Amino acid sequence: FGRRLHIFETLDSTQTKAHELVAAGEPEGTLVIAEQQTMGRGRMGRSWHSPPGTGVYMTLVLKPRIPLHFTPQLTLLAAVALNRGIQKVVDVPVMIKWPNDLLIGGKKISGILLETSAEDERLRYIVAGMGISVNLQPDDYPPELKERATSLAIESGRRIDREQLIASVLEQFEQLYDLYHEAGFAPIRTLWEAGSASLGRTVRVASPHGELEGVAEALDEHGGLVVRLPDGQQTRIFSGEVELR
Ligand code: BTN
Repeated sequence: FGRRLHIFETLDSTQTKAHELVAAGEPEGTLVIAEQQTMGRGRMGRSWHSPPGTGVYMTLVLKPRIPLHFTPQLTLLAAVALNRGIQKVVDVPVMIKWPNDLLIGGKKISGILLETSAEDERLRYIVAGMGISVNLQPDDYPPELKERATSLAIESGRRIDREQLIASVLEQFEQLYDLYHEAGFAPIRTLWEAGSASLGRTVRVASPHGELEGVAEALDEHGGLVVRLPDGQQTRIFSGEVELR
């Protein structure tokens, strides 16, 4: 992964550029990096704060050999790759919040956005966008983010080498991706659970189907979050926003 590399000073979004490059014939493993994004995208239609020089904004092109409805598993795989890749470079405890936010001390340091392109029921490709707050300082955050976001530099007290970090995340990604194709989701699920901040916690979930609160108990075999409701019933969450209580 990353042997075909496209680096840009400014992009609206590395996701958009990756879609264009795939359309132009770029293969799996192609990586798009920007120093800054003017319209960085987040999950749920949000934007991703992407100031110049201090963050990692990158998108990896994947052409996995899986049916379309398996893509949530790759979202979780990406979270494990970031979690392990970051912790090999920076000695800080990073936790995964379902499905794929990375937190330090409850504050977000990294997010993942997977966009798929499907024709009929066949998955053609995925662009896996990853944003990491690396060397941002408290003043780099707009007021509304200060409470909820932090960076690797703030948490570790030192400047982090972005190239080293990217290489480390890609190495993990590639290993996990190979493992996934050989052995399926089970080992990825185990690794995700090991890095999870969600399991065992009371969570509030806002989804397209409404709000609920319960205890997150497990990850199911498809990557859904299994939640025990106050009335003792179990439910599974496949999309939505989780708040740790
Ligand atoms: C989220 O947590 O909401 C997901 C954030 C994903 C941000 C990354 S930065 C690189 C790539 N390009 C984008 O426009 N978004 C993703």
